[in-house]
Amino acid sequence: MTTRFPETQAYAALRAHADTLRHVPLVEIANAPGRLATMQHDVAGLFVDLSKNRANDATLALLAQLARERDLAGGIAAMFSGAKINLTEQRAVLHVALRNRSDRPIVVDGADVMPGVREVLAKMKDLVDRVRSGRWRGATGERITDVVNIGIGGSDLGPHMVCEALEPHWNTHEEGAIRPHFVSNVDGAHLARTLKGLRPETTLFLVASKTFTTEETIANARSARAWLTASLGDGAVPSHFVALSTNAKEVAAFGIDVANMLEFWDWVGGRYSLWSAIGTSIALAIGFDRFVELLEGAHAMDEHFRTAPIESNVPALMALLGVFYASFFDAHTHAVLPYDQSLHRFAAWLQQGDMESNGKSVEREGRPIRDYTTGPIVWGEPGTNGQHAFYQLLHQGTRLVPCDFVAPLRSPYALDGARDRHHAMLLANLVAQSEALMIGKSIDTVRAELRAEGKATEEIERLAPHKVFEGNRPSNVIFFDRLEPRTLGALLALYEHRIFVQGWIWNVNSFDQWGVELGKKLAKTVLTELEGGPEAPHDASTASLVARVRAARRGGGV
Ligand code: F6P
Repeated sequence: MTTRFPETQAYAALRAHADTLRHVPLVEIANAPGRLATMQHDVAGLFVDLSKNRANDATLALLAQLARERDLAGGIAAMFSGAKINLTEQRAVLHVALRNRSDRPIVVDGADVMPGVREVLAKMKDLVDRVRSGRWRGATGERITDVVNIGIGGSDLGPHMVCEALEPHWNTHEEGAIRPHFVSNVDGAHLARTLKGLRPETTLFLVASKTFTTEETIANARSARAWLTASLGDGAVPSHFVALSTNAKEVAAFGIDVANMLEFWDWVGGRYSLWSAIGTSIALAIGFDRFVELLEGAHAMDEHFRTAPIESNVPALMALLGVFYASFFDAHTHAVLPYDQSLHRFAAWLQQGDMESNGKSVEREGRPIRDYTTGPIVWGEPGTNGQHAFYQLLHQGTRLVPCDFVAPLRSPYALDGARDRHHAMLLANLVAQSEALMIGKSIDTVRAELRAEGKATEEIERLAPHKVFEGNRPSNVIFFDRLEPRTLGALLALYEHRIFVQGWIWNVNSFDQWGVELGKKLAKTVLTELEGGPEAPHDASTASLVARVRAARRGGGV
């Protein structure tokens, strides 16, 4: 039995140690001799700079001790070996098998899962090649030009984010482009607006749902089918609908031929599923070979994570630093700030990955967690947009918000040729923000600046406190050469493993999501009421909301 997180020796030592660090300027820590050699890492095509963290050699040693006391190495080995670490659902957690590009077997319940993984990849390749080459035709004989992925949560966020990120690769095949579209929200606006620009004859729908019972997805898929059959008839469905699911029975019940289904398995968590059949929209958009490069990039990160010692294990170090800030610096949120417009869905993807995994308050063995905090609130927006929105709080707010800055060093969108001033401006801002967060600006500097502007003493004293930046705010910087499938794969795997490590340290089950069930269930009752069914018992507040919506739907005022 491993020791509970707050009862480890490392926890007590880290608490005391954090107090000694509190008043040490971060810049002093960052300037220590040998700092860059310890805190900057090149891994799987990513350059990861952890040097601007409030952590010195002693901190790192204590964090490594914490990892040992929590048997992190045992946890990593358990995941990669196919052990059923998702305790509440009695499932293995094997997104790493989906991108296992080695010959290493991975065994679940006595059977190697790799032959099945390779079989589905071959099936995916066949489908993708047929669609992209035009061998797959719509019901009227036209080739497919647009693919609509209908899914939500993990069946949307991952593939959507990756397709957006890799837009420069959409048009690289010879025969013609496939444009990917994503419909997730049950709000009819999402499907209606997407279909506006499409023709049924040239549109292929991918119904992406692990369970194939998710209400929003099934409602959207039904409406999409109605849109298609209204002009092409029921016989058109097999040429225009593909299912991505673990549930063949429900797929057949919906009316999709299981020959047109790409399967995956219960050991793939929804939020870790973009590497599975759920990634078919990605492969259709960028081609199967490039999809394989995405898997290869992730595999390179997996191998690093599986084999590197804690002291140089980058996902583990990032995770442990996050634990340090959450527990000892009251950092309740974590900002991810890609300086790359193509990564504009990155924070949304990571939000589900992290918050659905580690937003828990019960230990793996079922004890309530009362004495420490678990998963942070993850949020972010691309730079430089965010700078003009919420960076004020990052620099001068009362809360500590650790930040990750993420950017490619070269852009495929050079608007002014080799000079590419847009990208230089973008990267200059990234570097400057990480510097500003760390160094801050003292009151003496502020006073000197105001004096130089010719301000009177009284005015200087009035203004100065408002212009001080306390600094000492930590950030990580992740650079890579270009946003290519391979580097993107490595980046996403890095964050997935960061989530795993934090969940393991906090001893939560990162792989279930019971927290989404209650609201779903209550929504069913409310829907019956809104559609004229009998009133259900509610508290006074909720009953008044139901009454208002019912009145509005009957045509009454609100
Ligand atoms: O919101 C809960 C959830 O189960 C997510 O974990 C999942 O990614 C999403 O719903 C969609 O589920 P499915 O792929 O089964 O439709």
